[in-house]
Amino acid sequence: MRLALILGFLLLAACSGDDVEPVVDTYDPAHDYYSYANTDEFQTTHLSLSLDVDFEAQQLGGIATLVMRRIDADASEVVLDSRALDIGTVEYSADGSNWTELEYTVAPHDALLGSAVSIALPVVGAVDYRFSLRIAYTTSPESTALQWLPAELTSGGKQPLLFSQSQAIHARSWIPLQDTPAVRITYDAEIRTPPQLLAVMSANNDPMSVRDGSYSFDMPQPIPPYLLAIAVGNIFFAPLGPDTGLYAEPELLSDGVWEFADTQEMLDQAEELFGPYGWGRYDLLLLPPSFPYGGMENPRLSFITPSLLAGDRSLISVIAHELAHSWSGNLVTNATWRDGWLNEGMTNYLEARLMEVIYGPDRVAEEDVINYHELLDNFERINPELQALAPRMDTADPDSAQGTIHYNKGKLLLQMLENAYGRPAFDAFLSSYFETHAFKTITSEAFLDFLDTNLLSVAQGGVTREQVAEWLYEPGLPDNAPIPVSATLDSAKKLAISWSNGDTPTEMLNMDGWSAQAILHFIDNITADVSNESFAELDAAMGFSDTGNAEIGRVWFTLAAERRYLPAYPKMRAYLERYGRAKLIAPIYMALAGNGEDRELALQIFEETKHRYHPFVANGLPAQLNGN
Ligand code: BES
Ligand code: ZN
Repeated sequence: MRLALILGFLLLAACSGDDVEPVVDTYDPAHDYYSYANTDEFQTTHLSLSLDVDFEAQQLGGIATLVMRRIDADASEVVLDSRALDIGTVEYSADGSNWTELEYTVAPHDALLGSAVSIALPVVGAVDYRFSLRIAYTTSPESTALQWLPAELTSGGKQPLLFSQSQAIHARSWIPLQDTPAVRITYDAEIRTPPQLLAVMSANNDPMSVRDGSYSFDMPQPIPPYLLAIAVGNIFFAPLGPDTGLYAEPELLSDGVWEFADTQEMLDQAEELFGPYGWGRYDLLLLPPSFPYGGMENPRLSFITPSLLAGDRSLISVIAHELAHSWSGNLVTNATWRDGWLNEGMTNYLEARLMEVIYGPDRVAEEDVINYHELLDNFERINPELQALAPRMDTADPDSAQGTIHYNKGKLLLQMLENAYGRPAFDAFLSSYFETHAFKTITSEAFLDFLDTNLLSVAQGGVTREQVAEWLYEPGLPDNAPIPVSATLDSAKKLAISWSNGDTPTEMLNMDGWSAQAILHFIDNITADVSNESFAELDAAMGFSDTGNAEIGRVWFTLAAERRYLPAYPKMRAYLERYGRAKLIAPIYMALAGNGEDRELALQIFEETKHRYHPFVANGLPAQLNGN
């Protein structure tokens, strides 16, 4: 089965009679099916941006200059990725000072991939020869990476705000480039904004930067294009430690400084665990609630949802996660999106290691159990072919194809290996993995080879290459998967069942001192037969509808929607208006749409609220709601 996936093979299309036609399956797991770029002929090494930020027109406009390296002496055309860009002139220069205008074509738009831009070169040249392409362009208000927030959707309410989200294949919607992790680029940028606003990027932000509407950036370490990032707004800086700090609107700054106070310690501990942090500073940017993810590991500056501001530091594992990406993902990068588990699964594992040194094993066990249940839920709804860690993936949307399977199954694979070989051996393996592949990409197949050579074949642990291949290429969970347990979550679950049965009356429930994770697990384990009267009693006693913890809100309102607990609907609606993070709101919309009565209501709330959401959510949710 594995060979079939890896090598490509002859499929015999058996038709009627002797009319048998061989069909060649040319699927190549190392090829990036999500980019038009001809990276085997040319590779970008550096990008220079010079952009004006126009809030009125909701456009970035200016020039992208790409330094290209020739890989193939005979190639005569550079193909770039773009999406909804308005491209003006394209010029060529061999020396960076004399420019010649070039002919180019923009292919018809593909909903997933955008439009290939094919640029005809005036000359062929020697391998390794470098030249520059200078492209004048503007983005469209429909850019899938950019959210242009009007002032009223920010905390301050007085200034507009812009942010980008490039992963997986949206960098092409704000910059014409080779949008594939197969290339790594350094970059510099000149960004012009309204004078009162500050621009920050995934680059060397200067905390002392003078606010004058003109900002320069430099990213000296080569990064894959999905890590290009920008934000512009009424943003201020506060330090968290000597090498760490927080950017946020002033209204959120002090709450953020309190919630994320452990960031410097996380950075220090991460270096102890994973090796030197190679990126300079590590800062956080706290965005408005429409940021569609929990966090995004933009190098030197993770973008963070304000839904982490629970007031009790209970949700900061997301910070540990984004920080850990500085090694898994940003330093060693998945070769294509089909190897996404090497970014996300590895990071989920490192996140747990980091959480363990700082907050102890009990806290980690809770997150492990929650991740495990999320994984089992995903197995119920994700197509078996996409349940492999390294599936065949060439047409599915890389943003959503695998749910959280690559996160949680990937983490379990690494935990299984750690258990089998012991920490010292496994940690030595990890260090050499990061060192050997620093600033490179890796496929799942190369990972398996490296694992085999450096751990399976040389240490005592008894895991075979074939067993690991089963994780990579088969659906579900192999028999050697560890099953996480947490004593605190076990008691939360027992109590939920006993309360649901009526064995524990509501007035006997006491959750003082419980972790947010235990409360969440309690809610998740309330049984279906509980009456809405008891549900109301519980809400009155515990105040779940008024929770300030966005994760507790997610499970509570999802349950309220599933069972049509109408008294919670106004607050549920307010929650859907408040947050735009996909993980928080999609399950509630889905539960409403699926409860047999409220599909219309779900669509209506969505219609009335979508102007608040980032394009990723505004474009993606309707398909989910309609079951596509
Ligand atoms: N890199 C991801 C976010 C992402 C994934 C963007 C896929 C686009 C496509 C980020 O590191 C992430 O995993 N965020 C999680 C955090 C969680 C697992 C701790 C999130 O947003 O919830
Ligand atoms: Zn991640």
